[in-house]
Amino acid sequence: MAYSKEVVERFENVLKNPDKHSVGRYDPNAPNVATGMVGAPSCGDVMKLQLRLNDDGVINGVKFKTYGCGSAIASSSMFVDMLQGKTIEEAKQIKDKDIAAVLELPPIKLHCSVLAEEGIRKAIENWEEKEARRKHNNPPE
Ligand code: FES
Repeated sequence: MAYSKEVVERFENVLKNPDKHSVGRYDPNAPNVATGMVGAPSCGDVMKLQLRLNDDGVINGVKFKTYGCGSAIASSSMFVDMLQGKTIEEAKQIKDKDIAAVLELPPIKLHCSVLAEEGIRKAIENWEEKEARRKHNNPPE
């Protein structure tokens, strides 16, 4: 199975310069940070994706750590690019199929982009829980 040029380039760029390509972590307890952590049962790979939002609810930073294959790392990196500058509602519209199509993932590797989408979904859930808690603790007067 050959990886597409896009997968290979993204994977190599991340390996060469992880900081520049958003590998890392934010403080998960920061009020403006949402964290999603997921594992793929079929291969045991694990991915953590974090979103940082500004006061207007716009994503102004994304970090990830992926213990997985080249497709999973390329998918994470592609999600990072697609999420920058989006609101949570816009982020919900990005699907693994969009990523898989651009990366030309073969059927056997589709679960790698699914893993990345699940990471985002979990991070969004975490954000919505934090928002709900904030509203509960600071009700409008
Ligand atoms: Fe496990 Fe790709 S083979 S995420």
